[in-house]
Amino acid sequence: MSDGSTTTAEFVNPLRDPQDRRLPQIAGPCGIVLFGVTGDLARKKLIPAIYDLANRGLLPPGFALVGFARHDFGRQGFARLVKDAAKAGARTAWNESTWKQLYSGFRFVEGSFDDDQAWETLRTTLDDLDAKQGTQGNHAFYLSIPPGLFPVVVSKLKEHKLAEAPGNAWRRVVIEKPFGHDLESARELNAIVGEVFAPEDVFRIDHYLGKETVQNILAFRFANEMFEPIWNSNYVDHVQITMAEDIGIGTRAGYYDGIGAARDVIQNHLLQLLALVAMEEPISFNAASLRIEKQKILANVRAPERLDLHTAFAQYTAGWAGGQEVIGYHDEEGIPADSTTETYAAMRLDIGTRRWAGVPFYLRVGKRLGRRVTEVAVVFKRAPHLPFSSDDVEELGQNALVMRIQPDEGVTLRFGAKVPGTVMEIRDVNMDFAYGGTFVEDSPEAYERLILDVLLGDPPLFPQHQEVELSWQILDPIIQHWSRKKSIDSYEAGTWGPASADKMIARDGRRWRRP
Ligand code: BG6
Repeated sequence: MSDGSTTTAEFVNPLRDPQDRRLPQIAGPCGIVLFGVTGDLARKKLIPAIYDLANRGLLPPGFALVGFARHDFGRQGFARLVKDAAKAGARTAWNESTWKQLYSGFRFVEGSFDDDQAWETLRTTLDDLDAKQGTQGNHAFYLSIPPGLFPVVVSKLKEHKLAEAPGNAWRRVVIEKPFGHDLESARELNAIVGEVFAPEDVFRIDHYLGKETVQNILAFRFANEMFEPIWNSNYVDHVQITMAEDIGIGTRAGYYDGIGAARDVIQNHLLQLLALVAMEEPISFNAASLRIEKQKILANVRAPERLDLHTAFAQYTAGWAGGQEVIGYHDEEGIPADSTTETYAAMRLDIGTRRWAGVPFYLRVGKRLGRRVTEVAVVFKRAPHLPFSSDDVEELGQNALVMRIQPDEGVTLRFGAKVPGTVMEIRDVNMDFAYGGTFVEDSPEAYERLILDVLLGDPPLFPQHQEVELSWQILDPIIQHWSRKKSIDSYEAGTWGPASADKMIARDGRRWRRP
């Protein structure tokens, strides 16, 4: 926590015991300016998360939410949009008093990003909120807009002096991914943002880091004695990181086409997962220590030399998903007939460190796959000697430790056990930990945690620009390799991806898990 934003002296909730560290902190007086209020992300995730935070008592009475868009909503229309989005997407129940409290801090500014008058109106709106709503000059600008617009918005914030915080107040910028579309553009964007905001005031969102199960990777590894001794190339055969979605691209053609699966989710979510699984123990869990360890790993990740053999990109065709007949990527609204954007990507990455030498990390992501599941599977080597006949162990696979990130959150340990009976027959079984059956607390949505951290000025869960650049450095050659191709491989919707990805892993004598 960097400054006065965490002082909650003005708002003391008598029901909360200040000694209880399990209780989350409450943000100090502040506002959020939301750019892109009508977008998918704002309606489905950000607004519900803000409502849930308010409902959980984690936003201060002096809180404001300002929408900025090219629509003539007015304050009422904006409030209606927020209400509809909160009612549709919030995880906590509807509460009139929460709503009334939030409503007093709503403002809406109509205008386009090149309209200087609108930016001036935004400035006076914030001044007015500081005076009337008690936001005390603290404002976060949330850029939930197409990445091409980041530079213009950041420059306008500077030009209209919105990025300058009065006195002890703060101004922060929250940037959604993708941060750039390759290494060069990420560096350019970083330079633009860096001219306007200090590094500690830039919050790059990777919502996977806000997920409880992702944060649990570090707890699992470093709070226990059992796993760390075997977490290396002596015992681990390989690691599989899967992010499968059953949905197609829906209404997101404008964002997705030309970006594709690798830029959309491998550059950020999957490489962050890889870093958390592979990194050394940080000396503490503060942002600086975590970043140092993540950077060391990302700097040592090697893309394969034979990109044609160890990576696979493909696009979905029509098929059946979730019991419904669905169209192929080319037939989705807004997708050009000759698009070669990948909706599936798989790759083998290696890590040049003593701990991981010779242990491949296989990453795969895709839309319209068999079902929605994200998991990290650490697959162990076979026992060096099996004192059983080959018949006894015919059905014995490799031990695996699977961190189930979603939707069925938990951890599974897979190992061999004797099948009851008179003969020695050994088969794989699962030992499960499930969040749902163990904790009474519900997991907050990733965006609740991340938005609250922005308002608290708490940075550990936000990647710094070095991590973003290192991730592009890993992916750039792979993406370039595939962008040179005139056509793209395909897979039927509802399946587990293209045959080329199966061949890719089979070349190494392994196969994908069926989650
Ligand atoms: C986003 C991607 O970052 O993550 C989307 O842009 C994807 O394409 C989404 O659908 C998945 O998020 P989650 O939390 O449902 O796994």
